[in-house]
Amino acid sequence: MSLMPNIDNPTAKTLADLGVTDALAIPPLFAEIRARFDAEILRSRDETNWNITKVMWLGRKSGVLTQITENWLKPATPELKRAVGQQLNELRAHVETQIEARRAAIESGAEASALAHDRVDLSLPGVNRPVGSRHLIRQVFQEIEDIFFSIGFSVVEGPEIETPYYNFEALNIPEFHPVRDDMDTFYLELPPSPDKKTAPTPLLLRTHTSPMQIRTMEKQKPPVRVIVPGKVYRRDNPDATHSFAFHQIEGLAVDSDITFCDFTGTIEYFVKQFFGPSVKTRFRPSYFPFTEPSVEFDVSCPFCGGTGASNGTTCSKCKGAAWIELFGAGMVDPAVYGFVNYDAKKVSGFAFGIGIDRLAMLKYGIDDIQVFFQNDVRFLRQFP
Ligand code: PHE
Repeated sequence: MSLMPNIDNPTAKTLADLGVTDALAIPPLFAEIRARFDAEILRSRDETNWNITKVMWLGRKSGVLTQITENWLKPATPELKRAVGQQLNELRAHVETQIEARRAAIESGAEASALAHDRVDLSLPGVNRPVGSRHLIRQVFQEIEDIFFSIGFSVVEGPEIETPYYNFEALNIPEFHPVRDDMDTFYLELPPSPDKKTAPTPLLLRTHTSPMQIRTMEKQKPPVRVIVPGKVYRRDNPDATHSFAFHQIEGLAVDSDITFCDFTGTIEYFVKQFFGPSVKTRFRPSYFPFTEPSVEFDVSCPFCGGTGASNGTTCSKCKGAAWIELFGAGMVDPAVYGFVNYDAKKVSGFAFGIGIDRLAMLKYGIDDIQVFFQNDVRFLRQFP
């Protein structure tokens, strides 16, 4: 009985059957057989397997080498005989030395230890695949979004690469307006326009999420109630409270009858939901080119109960001021409606821009904005 199955076993056929007529085809044929042997001998790691391999290759009656002698060598044409004989001798020498070497290895126990080495140890602990968690900034985004969802706002998102038109002009900030100094940012280096005559439209990294006020109103007729979470950029040097990239949530509500009361009521609702029902809010006059009037919202310090002191010493959070500055906002400046074809006589609304990093630092007692960007897992793990 042949130990090699006849199907795809070339040694069971003659060279003529295999269509081999050229002596050049002989060495590759033997190389294939040799590769097969090398793989098998590697797998025989104990005596039983070694014996099977030996009989299969060197067995007198139907070992592979005998088959080659009978089927390839003997019936070979005179032109092929020489090549087959030479290759067969080489193969036989190889098989015999390898089988002998294997026997020595198995006897010396080398193979046994290799076997033990490869054995799977089922008592070992499994592979630990740690599950990630949402970054604190993402969590605060979600928290704020949920509060505004509950009062009818929806979320829109927009590009971080903007044109000066959306980032400045349409927000009533013409070129050379001094507030541009506070919003210095990164401009993109652009390839020249195809005609090489006109300069390409400059592109910049948005300095605030406010451009989405314009993009939203261009697309949508009033009523509008949206919030815009996103990343913004400024050319600030990094320190404990500044970073060249940070996060904002813009808010915009425009309708036919929105009043200053709706505005302050909405903000107050948000602040109480976020910091707790006992905080108070106040606003102070401020200035933004795209809101009129503009305000700065403060919250009574949630850490000292708005007293400026805790445990008999000055409150470290509000530095004794009892109030903490939160974010800028205001009623949408009618000039802005002109850029989006809204009728300033018929609509009114409010907008706000909340700095997320600042709010997260306040609420979770973080004193350095840089930790949000360093992604040290020891920090991230504190907010699972
Ligand atoms: N975009 C302003 C800033 O980043 C904040 C703001 C938004 C003010 C909306 C008023 C209304 O400073």
